[in-house]
Amino acid sequence: MKNRYIDLISQTFDFPQEDFEVVDNCLHFNGIPLMDIIAQYGTPLKINYLPKISSQIQKAKRLFNVAMAKADYKGNYTYCYCTKSSHFSFVLEEALKNDIHLETSSAFDIPIIKNLFEQGLVTKDIIVLCNGYKKAAYTQNITDMIQDGFHNVIPIFDNMNELSAYEKIYSKQKMKIGLRIAAEEEPNFDFYTSRLGIRHAEIVDYYKNVIRKNSNLEFKLMHFFINTGIRDTAYYWAELNRCINLYCDLKKLCPELDSLDIGGGFPIRTSLSSDFDYQYMADEIIRQIKSTCEQRKVEEPHIFTEFGSFTVGESGAILYGITEVKRQNDKEIWNMIDSSFITTLPDTWGIKQKFILLSVNNWDKEYQRVNLGGLTCDSDDYYIMESVKSRVILPKIEQGETLFIGFFHTGAYQESLGGYGGIQHCLIPAPKHVLIDRDENGEYTTRLFAKEQSAKSMMKILGY
Ligand SMILES: Cc1ncc(COP(=O)(O)O)c(C=O)c1O
Repeated sequence: MKNRYIDLISQTFDFPQEDFEVVDNCLHFNGIPLMDIIAQYGTPLKINYLPKISSQIQKAKRLFNVAMAKADYKGNYTYCYCTKSSHFSFVLEEALKNDIHLETSSAFDIPIIKNLFEQGLVTKDIIVLCNGYKKAAYTQNITDMIQDGFHNVIPIFDNMNELSAYEKIYSKQKMKIGLRIAAEEEPNFDFYTSRLGIRHAEIVDYYKNVIRKNSNLEFKLMHFFINTGIRDTAYYWAELNRCINLYCDLKKLCPELDSLDIGGGFPIRTSLSSDFDYQYMADEIIRQIKSTCEQRKVEEPHIFTEFGSFTVGESGAILYGITEVKRQNDKEIWNMIDSSFITTLPDTWGIKQKFILLSVNNWDKEYQRVNLGGLTCDSDDYYIMESVKSRVILPKIEQGETLFIGFFHTGAYQESLGGYGGIQHCLIPAPKHVLIDRDENGEYTTRLFAKEQSAKSMMKILGY
């Protein structure tokens, strides 16, 4: 009997899972028959399944609200979307359907918020947490927004010098501010303390000696971002605990402080065997905050999160076609994709990130172990799995056949890192980009967001 791809995947991974289904030997993603999408648009093709953005936000809200109910927690939960994980208008438009707030990280985020306001998608009540190391253009944009009546714009100070940039505001009126604590990095990281934020040892004195002396400054929110993201590790829980205790120290000095922003870092599924227990993590975070606050006799803070990847990552996928199989020696079979990993999935070579990789067609075919190669001449333009156990296994194809494959849950950070359009390695064009949605009857709809990049647009950038 043949060793079929479908048997391998279904036996190895408790497959099909939430987002995937195999129908007639072809893959469906969130109920979308991908071969139909490929037949219409071709490959390489970026897709975003928009309803996933809303369902992720609703999921996180549910997780934290359930955790709070279980712990009889007094504070409330606010979901902010971290725009840097994907700045696209279609992401913000979908996310904002879910009563959320925003987190920014650069001067250029502010025109996006102004545009959303002009479209009527946000009001001046929206909470905007402004993070990041800020140069003058950013603090100026923040100042403009506050003066324009966006009364919940909260700059989160990255360092103690940032304050003077807002003098124009706090010299005349009340102003809400946040402070970011520099997290201690994971023991095996290159640094001890994050370069972002104010040192733990300095923050209390800074509050006492500077912030408290100005009655127009309302220190409302304390923020930290733990480098590894939210993980069930001794490091995460120790850091969380340190930050909650610091919150309690500050709260005792500053009655108007009432919010704790635990940052981003809720993971997404990057492998079919991911088994992150989201409810357990939300429960435990809330339980630990509550219990420390009780011990320290401090009121529980409202909780803010700034989830980026979690919001948008699982909505994205990129589909490639493979028509060429190159056998370089007895063991190494290269499936050559019709684009480049370096340009379209920069995390795969930059940080050796793995994503869920599945064949889109040919699930009834025999499988084989392959390497995946990109079209640029760069020797790093490939995708493999280092561990022998988790090799890249795909259906075998014969000369003249086409295999389509998909990398899934790729919706966060890939364009922010690899660029979008522009000039890229070996002038490989940015692929076509299609948005998939559902109408009121539940039928799926597609629309072309961006055509494949043309030679003409590249020539223009290059000055020809
Ligand atoms: C301050 C801050 N908030 C939120 C995020 C979003 O993290 P994630 O996309 O992992 O949720 C980041 C990511 O670097 C960050 O630096």
